[in-house]
Amino acid sequence: MSELLRIESLSVAYGAGPVVHGVSLAMGAGSVAALLGANGAGKSSTLRAIAGLEPAQGRVVFDGQDITGLDAAKRFRAGIVYVPEGRAIVTDLSVAENLTLGAYFVDSRTRAQRQQLVLDFFPEIANRLKSPAGLLSGGEQQMLAIGRALMSAPRLLLLDEPSLGLAPLLVARVYERLARIQQEQQLSALLVEQSFHAAAKLASRAWVMRHGHIVGELDAQALGSREGRQRAIDAYLGTRADAAAQALPA
Ligand SMILES: Nc1ncnc2c1ncn2[C@@H]1O[C@H](COP(=O)(O)OP(=O)(O)O)[C@@H](O)[C@H]1O
Ligand SMILES: [Mg+2]
Repeated sequence: MSELLRIESLSVAYGAGPVVHGVSLAMGAGSVAALLGANGAGKSSTLRAIAGLEPAQGRVVFDGQDITGLDAAKRFRAGIVYVPEGRAIVTDLSVAENLTLGAYFVDSRTRAQRQQLVLDFFPEIANRLKSPAGLLSGGEQQMLAIGRALMSAPRLLLLDEPSLGLAPLLVARVYERLARIQQEQQLSALLVEQSFHAAAKLASRAWVMRHGHIVGELDAQALGSREGRQRAIDAYLGTRADAAAQALPA
């Protein structure tokens, strides 16, 4: 698997000081990786910095190219597409119009093809195309937000807490669709979650983040094993003083 994204010593600071401290990670093309951690751990800041939406220190390498100096628009054009938490869709626009926004600059034929693909993955929104997006349920809005991102044919999808505010059944459904998209489209995604179990099923690699630091890393095997998951949860919660050290690979 070739490397798609690598961040080196990434730090993000706001007025009150740094909230992400020298985070490094790498992921391969065609894979899903997850950044897990409690509220306030620095997950969104990390993801937004990768998208170029927060000023950051460190280096970001995308598909072998150093993109550290590129702004958010250029990173988007390079194929890095960020889906913010809280499903930032345009509630006044229809479902179809929201999808169009995701592929505004492509020709109408390509746009129609991509829309068909998105609607195949998310039939829940297929018969709501003319409805104002604000009338969709929370789960449908999340599907629309992901669908809109897919309209731009991303090379790397950055998903910020797709499970946020959704009932467990809907979380499972959204993740089931993401798994299908990953398999059928070789989607590459870095997702951020507080909800550990949903992400653990989809990701083949995960990092646990706490207070702006990576305190644990899990490979596919660890994600699939009870012990591995428990170690990560300990690191995540910081319930044991040595959890961070234990969660690191031997
Ligand atoms: N725009 C901002 N200005 C100032 N502080 C921020 C801003 N965004 C996030 N923070 C702070 O940075 C820390 C990390 O936040 P965030 O990256 O959103 O964490 P997470 O996504 O893991 O919940 C938190 O303490 C949060 O209050
Ligand atoms: Mg967040």
